[in-house]
Amino acid sequence: MKDISKALEKAQKEQLENQDKSQIPVKDPPVQQTGPIKPQSREHEPGVEPAPPKGKGSNRQGSKVIKVREDILRDNRLMSYFGSNFISDQYKIIKTKILEQTKDSGLNTILVTSAFKGEGKSLTSANLAISLAKEVVYTVLLVDADLRNPSLHYLFGISPQAGLSDYLLHDTPLPELFIRPGINKLLFLPGHTSIENSSEVVSAPKMERLVKELKERYPDRYVIFDSTPVIESADSLILSKYVDGVVLVVEAGKTQKSEIKKALKLLEKRNIIGLVLNKGEIPEKRYYRYY
Ligand SMILES: Nc1ncnc2c1ncn2[C@@H]1O[C@H](COP(=O)(O)OP(=O)(O)OP(=O)(O)O)[C@@H](O)[C@H]1O
Ligand SMILES: [Mg+2]
Repeated sequence: MKDISKALEKAQKEQLENQDKSQIPVKDPPVQQTGPIKPQSREHEPGVEPAPPKGKGSNRQGSKVIKVREDILRDNRLMSYFGSNFISDQYKIIKTKILEQTKDSGLNTILVTSAFKGEGKSLTSANLAISLAKEVVYTVLLVDADLRNPSLHYLFGISPQAGLSDYLLHDTPLPELFIRPGINKLLFLPGHTSIENSSEVVSAPKMERLVKELKERYPDRYVIFDSTPVIESADSLILSKYVDGVVLVVEAGKTQKSEIKKALKLLEKRNIIGLVLNKGEIPEKRYYRYY
């Protein structure tokens, strides 16, 4: 447990030192919908900036700094990173609704799931985490807890050498797993390799202890967990017991009412703090509206 605390403490200190002090919290009206997000260009394949020179790119305890490229964020639809656009504004609204429900009650661990695969959990988790990380007062840890199909690192164009799977299976120290992508106060714990019997691993006490430790160590930290679809695997159902709140992503025009009901029924004892309607229709001219 000690290594978790140390790693978080170190990363938080560094992030606070580097944070963009010009950011101010955003207030938005209550709407919870994202539209189809069009990448603005697909000229670049996902990749990473060249590794920084030894000693500069990682701190003494080993957590890495991998500054992600803006063109990759844009290509991969991580539009929350960019200042003024319709999509990032939608995520600000979602973030604001979540903050309203959580910040005064100490709820800071949030699981993102959906009924089925491909409905936008990973994209929503990452955009939400980036949006939250832009708030002055919060540090955000984004965890790829989809251990069947870890994919968040692709969105950032990162190829992690290790991740949550290594911590859970091989006791790799956490400090070696955290990545700071250079996006405000965002810290990223990638999943790394896929685990076939992930449900057994997720249901083991080690995972529950990790979530508890991540939650309790820093009350001003939000921890966002990307996960598996709730109807298709037990992982997210198990994880949802450990966290404070659940966000359910629904794909507009695709997820059937009966399927949403089924997902909600599975999650009925959990604290559902939001439904995100993803890929909804938005008037064309508003896809990228700049203010
Ligand atoms: N709002 C959106 N607009 C356009 N494309 C989207 C949107 N949301 C997600 N996508 C695309 O849909 C695909 C699936 O998204 P994503 O990987 O986030 O879903 P997922 O629920 O995490 O999938 P999985 O269950 O396989 O992990 C990706 O190609 C993603 O870029
Ligand atoms: Mg995913």
